[in-house]
Amino acid sequence: MKFFIDTANLSDIAEAQALGVLDGVTTNPSLMAKEGITGAKNILKHYVDICNIVDGDVSAEVIATDFEGMVQQGEELAALHPQIVVKLPMIADGVKACKYFSDKGIKTNVTLVFSPGQALLAAKAGATYMSPFLGRLDDISTDGLQLIAEIRQIYDNYGFETQILAASIRHTMHVINCAKIGADVMTGPLSSITGLLKHPLTDSGLAQFLLDYQKGN
Ligand code: G3P
Repeated sequence: MKFFIDTANLSDIAEAQALGVLDGVTTNPSLMAKEGITGAKNILKHYVDICNIVDGDVSAEVIATDFEGMVQQGEELAALHPQIVVKLPMIADGVKACKYFSDKGIKTNVTLVFSPGQALLAAKAGATYMSPFLGRLDDISTDGLQLIAEIRQIYDNYGFETQILAASIRHTMHVINCAKIGADVMTGPLSSITGLLKHPLTDSGLAQFLLDYQKGN
């Protein structure tokens, strides 16, 4: 299972990278705005800054909602750095643009997926990654994990190579349940990764080991 961090915060990205378990980064316009990164020039520079911290794929989202605009912006994003993955919304022109980029060998991430049918379309269009937003489904009393399981079954039925990128992860149990279902990738905040470390028996066990070592010295 790949671990991506879902943020534009450089210090969180550096912390996850330093832990040695980070495989990539996802961002979106809202996450950029949260860090105060606005304006096309600053946003493009920020993507490069992120690529210079991590080794893996970095999703950069187009703002255009028409095919021509998505192609133009996606090509500009892809030219920024070899690690850039072009992130496209799950709308008709996004599917067309996904097929365009996958035919050119440019990596894509189809985002804002909320149904098995949308996931099937993204795979048919050759998406590298397809991002179902499980937390946002949970927010409206719908089972986000059930969606991930249904997509896993559909992709396995036909051997689709599109990777299921479980997004809108909110906490550690989302990560663990996605791992049980077989999501290829999870993306979440730093806390959803570092939270996996925590167990009181680890802390008390280590404290006792150190105490006992000191007794013998
Ligand atoms: O990766 C998708 C993500 O950025 C959305 O997360 O928490 O805003 O639903 P959230």
